[in-house]
Amino acid sequence: MNHTFTIFGSTGDLTYRKLLPALFNMSVLDELGDQFKIVAIGRKPYSREQYIETFRQGIKDFARLTYSENAFEKFIRHVDYYQMDLSNENDYLGLNDYYEKHGCRNHVFYFAVAPKFFLPISIGLKHIAYAYESKVIIEKPFGETIEKGKELNQKLEKHFHDYNIFHIDHYLGKEMVQNIQTIRFKNALFKHAWNHEMIENVQISAFEKGGIGNRGAYYDENGALKDMVQNHLFQVLSILAAEESEDQHKAQLEVLKHLKPLKENDLVLGQYEGYLQEKDVCENSKTETYAALTCMIDNERWQGVPFYIRTGKNLSKREITVVIQFKAMDGVKGNVLLIRIQPTEGVYFQFNIKKPGSKDEIETVQMDFCQSCLEINRINTPEAYERLLKAAMNDDRDYFSTWDEIETSSRFIENIQRSEPYIYKVGSVGPKEADQLLKRNGHAWYEI
Ligand code: BG6
Repeated sequence: MNHTFTIFGSTGDLTYRKLLPALFNMSVLDELGDQFKIVAIGRKPYSREQYIETFRQGIKDFARLTYSENAFEKFIRHVDYYQMDLSNENDYLGLNDYYEKHGCRNHVFYFAVAPKFFLPISIGLKHIAYAYESKVIIEKPFGETIEKGKELNQKLEKHFHDYNIFHIDHYLGKEMVQNIQTIRFKNALFKHAWNHEMIENVQISAFEKGGIGNRGAYYDENGALKDMVQNHLFQVLSILAAEESEDQHKAQLEVLKHLKPLKENDLVLGQYEGYLQEKDVCENSKTETYAALTCMIDNERWQGVPFYIRTGKNLSKREITVVIQFKAMDGVKGNVLLIRIQPTEGVYFQFNIKKPGSKDEIETVQMDFCQSCLEINRINTPEAYERLLKAAMNDDRDYFSTWDEIETSSRFIENIQRSEPYIYKVGSVGPKEADQLLKRNGHAWYEI
């Protein structure tokens, strides 16, 4: 079925780096039909041609499929730019005329804008034929505070069917995040050892090499805890810890509900050197660009098992990994299962063998399976946003967070007593104080 994708916030960073590259890939792969349309909405007075030039480089830099003039030409035939003021209800009458004139149907409205625009857009969309039946994809933050987010959510449900509202968390579309459960439940070795008797600790690390770029205004209001932990990394944590269930998100919600409140020593915040000089950042801002925390889950399975999370900007590398550190036994090192989420996708396992040639000396060795090293796997692996756009079109809600998950994890983050951020060097691994979180429990970050 051909869809009309309308992007509110079409000149923003997300559209440039993620949405249009994903739609480009889908167009190259003929996954959008031959009549699809992308209506890019913005305030700036661009002509269609000018707008197209604003994102050409983004496609070259961020699309996983190779840019070619031909592929780009084929893609942009479906792209148009529509200038309007999102807060002016009358402008939506014009938008409706535009849709009628161009025969646009099967709408997917993408809200890639600040939450203050969600309601004005929803109200404006009343003027669009069949808007109530349309799909709406919403980007975080879902509200400036939880209460506002909740209220907003209730209001949105008046404008669209609740099953047509998709709260996006693009980590749910990442190949190896989707793979966590398969690795756990389809290997007897892991399935039966996935508990506090066998597991010593779990480590989720999300290193980012880039800084905040031109997103100072948004980022300074939110910081790493809200930007990365509350959504993406709590999704990963709850997938790792959830019970096996037909209703995956319900099982994840149970985990989030059972997170113990952080204690004073469970949190280390950091800020990279030079952050205060970034554009649109408040003078003397205390916003964290790095966060490390120890989470404990209050249930039988995870009694006493710390889940360490760390994430930060302007670090030494771009890499996301999950480490399951199994208990040591009989004086030999514990097994380690490491899931590589990004940029390399794969699975690494550490185990013990008898040292060759010796009688009973033990050696710790590793197996390293690199999934993304095979070109065929790279070609066949959609980027997160491709997968999510497809899922929304197909009404597949597994790939989206539920409002209850969002509310529960937001409340947890909002209740954290924040400490002063430590200053760390650009290109480092973050503040060294983060090591103390683990040291205190006799643990250390696992390094390959
Ligand atoms: C976004 C955050 O949700 O995720 C960004 O707002 C962050 O600050 C990005 O850089 C990370 O996504 P990815 O897919 O590059 O790991």
